[in-house]
Amino acid sequence: MKTYISLWPAYAPQLPFPRSLAILGSTGSIGVNALSVVAQHPDLFRVAALGGGKNAARLAEQAKLFRPGLLAVLNEATAHELRGLLPAGYAPEILVGPAAYETVAAMPEADLVLSAIVGAAGFLPTLAAAKAGKRIALANKESLVLGGRLIRAACQASGAVILPVDSEHNALFQALCGHNGDEEVARLILTASGGPFRGKDAAFLASVTPAQALNHPNWSMGAKISVDSATLMNKGLEVIEACHLYGLPVARVDVLVHPQSIVHSLVEYVDGSQLAHLGVPDMRIPIAHCLCYPRRVNLDMPRLNLASAGSLTFEAPDETLFPCLGLAKAAFAASHSHPVALNAANEVAVELFLQGRIKFLDIPRLIEAALSRHAALPENCGADELIDADALTRRETLAAAFD
Ligand SMILES: NC(=O)c1ccc[n+]([C@@H]2O[C@H](COP(=O)([O-])OP(=O)(O)OC[C@H]3O[C@@H](n4cnc5c(N)ncnc54)[C@H](OP(=O)(O)O)[C@@H]3O)[C@@H](O)[C@H]2O)c1
Repeated sequence: MKTYISLWPAYAPQLPFPRSLAILGSTGSIGVNALSVVAQHPDLFRVAALGGGKNAARLAEQAKLFRPGLLAVLNEATAHELRGLLPAGYAPEILVGPAAYETVAAMPEADLVLSAIVGAAGFLPTLAAAKAGKRIALANKESLVLGGRLIRAACQASGAVILPVDSEHNALFQALCGHNGDEEVARLILTASGGPFRGKDAAFLASVTPAQALNHPNWSMGAKISVDSATLMNKGLEVIEACHLYGLPVARVDVLVHPQSIVHSLVEYVDGSQLAHLGVPDMRIPIAHCLCYPRRVNLDMPRLNLASAGSLTFEAPDETLFPCLGLAKAAFAASHSHPVALNAANEVAVELFLQGRIKFLDIPRLIEAALSRHAALPENCGADELIDADALTRRETLAAAFD
């Protein structure tokens, strides 16, 4: 991989206020937090479009409040329910089906696209936004895991720019500002809370339930990312995300467990300095940073008080007990398509675990098996081939789960 630190490209245009937003995944945890930032600053934003999945009730509530002209949902049943919930006199266009999100991502009326669908379903909409030259606030890390090379190429061709919503990558973005140049950066250090099972042993992990895995100690998030945090796969996906965003090899991206989730990541420079970003664990901070960049806006929320926060502690991750982190790094090193198999197997395994059909420790087992089955795709393959590989891994992982 070409080594460079991609910060804020010189071609990035100024974006005046009020900014026109398209929010994909508006009914999820990130989407709800983003709309709460918008509600705090109604003068700074117009909501042009909202994309939900199947939660018609929540999308209808959001639409009533923000009045976008365009809505997108996953299927006809949700669209039907949604139409019944919208008030008389308000008739937005409603697009239906997976391709609808790509239309929203590329719509001319939106300057800024928040990509916050969960999982691989976010890839094509993110790619569409990149091709359309949008400013992209990226929460959907799986997009970069699947097709980071294609998304970066699309951004370079169209002038699209990506601002990272993920708190760790947003922290890195801020700690890298003013230091544009690979020769100054020694390594990136992603912090990890360690999740709900930090310090437990294999016997404990063998019998943990979905409810325990969903009970994250510091962050309130959607179900899939909560389980990913419990297995440390979230950190593995984030290592790949950081490599794509900042163009560094995986050997220069380290992970440090920090149970208090106050230090959101660090950049180590060649002179030995480490610059960190600190704040309370609340996604509205990185979301607002991305939506308003480079402006900073007031956020009505509790502030970090280091005197009352007490000790900040750090430790190395346990990659033996939590092998998903190592599997992700190995997948990224293996080929540019192994991360597709990693991600697809993980999504299937997490869903089966949440349904109570497999055990927690089956998750890394199924991912490892998928990686060993995967045959690397050619470097120059397109989105269709990546999506075919994703679908094949899903079928094989489902079959392997019940062998
Ligand atoms: N939550 C966090 O704090 C956090 C932090 C950093 C990064 N992220 C990343 O942000 C993304 C979203 O996470 P989240 O926690 O907000 O997830 P979430 O709460 O589960 O929300 C997911 C959103 O995606 C929609 N969706 C689900 N499947 C879809 C599909 N096939 N097509 C279109 N839309 C679909 C859901 O719609 P319905 O609910 O209406 O069905 C919902 O709006 C993930 O990639 C995650 O890794 C999240």
